[in-house]
Amino acid sequence: MSTTPWFIDPDIRQARTLPAIFYTDPAMYELSSERIFARSWLYAQDATAVQRPGDVYPFLLLESMLDEPLLLTQDEHGQVRCLSNVCTHRAKIVVERPTNIRQLRCPYHGRCFHLNGAFKYMPAFEGAKNFPSHCDDLKSIPIYCWAGMYFVGLSPIMPFEQLIAPIQQRVEFLPLDQLRYVPEASRTFEVHAHWALYCENYLEGLHIPFVHPTLNKALDFSSYQYHLFDHCSLQIGVARADQPHFDLPKGHPDEGKQVYAWYFFVFPNMMFNFYPWGLSLNVVVPRGPQHCHVHFRTYRFENLPFNREDFAIEQTEMEDEAVVESVQIGIQSRYYDRGRYAPTMEQAVHHFHRLISQYMQQV
Ligand code: FES
Ligand SMILES: [Fe+2]
Repeated sequence: MSTTPWFIDPDIRQARTLPAIFYTDPAMYELSSERIFARSWLYAQDATAVQRPGDVYPFLLLESMLDEPLLLTQDEHGQVRCLSNVCTHRAKIVVERPTNIRQLRCPYHGRCFHLNGAFKYMPAFEGAKNFPSHCDDLKSIPIYCWAGMYFVGLSPIMPFEQLIAPIQQRVEFLPLDQLRYVPEASRTFEVHAHWALYCENYLEGLHIPFVHPTLNKALDFSSYQYHLFDHCSLQIGVARADQPHFDLPKGHPDEGKQVYAWYFFVFPNMMFNFYPWGLSLNVVVPRGPQHCHVHFRTYRFENLPFNREDFAIEQTEMEDEAVVESVQIGIQSRYYDRGRYAPTMEQAVHHFHRLISQYMQQV
């Protein structure tokens, strides 16, 4: 693969966008699985998945892309781990469904593991040389708990704390331990477009006046702001005079602004949208070169007033889906390859493209 198409000029004023081949070539899609997603921190589960010692929770990480079988366990001391859910004997999935147990026992030939993943026992292995060894333990995967959610990374290139630091700095005054999942205000949308097209639509407010007339009435569009960090970016929506906004503590980085929402994007596929009532987490899951699922997970602050209308995500989402699916058709055109960026409004898209370009070139 030539490296030239991947060059995204650091100077946004002269940069051209990612080449269309990134979105259209199935080989690129395959490559992005290992080069981007296997190296990133990803949403795994809510902390409620493993609440008591002995709880185990199997899941596939990024189904249809990474497809990695993983297992959350809470051991007898309350420590939560993420383990490979693949038996070190002959690769059977060890735990098939959530349960509460004292040890992990593979149903195929009875190999047993402690809840921390260490090999414990295997029948019929008398006489096996150099056995057991560390290779017989279930592999441990980096995991981090934040805001009541578990995040895991197969080979993350940075610690989670470093990744999340810019978000933490802005929201640490909020009662993050009181965020409660609201299933009736959560749902999954199916989008017929490449996962990156969905993300980059999220990353700019340039389209808001054109695509989201209702949202546009709530936001003071002239005050919309962008901030770029290492592997994440932030858009700040400033409320019009009569709209709800955060009550910010003294010394907060946004003190003096009427913040309607912080829209944080964390590379490559997570969006943390903080509102005065809580958090809307959006996770974009690639399902194929022209298809993704977007999980909208709504969390409200437990002790704050509940207003069902606050969770009205549907209309904006439908408007976004329509434009993104239209871009999916356009990006395959013979007459389109690369575009340009609006220097003041598309910095976060430029930043996203530069990260994709870096990750795709790193072997
Ligand atoms: S595959 Fe697990 S015991 Fe054989
Ligand atoms: Fe939008």
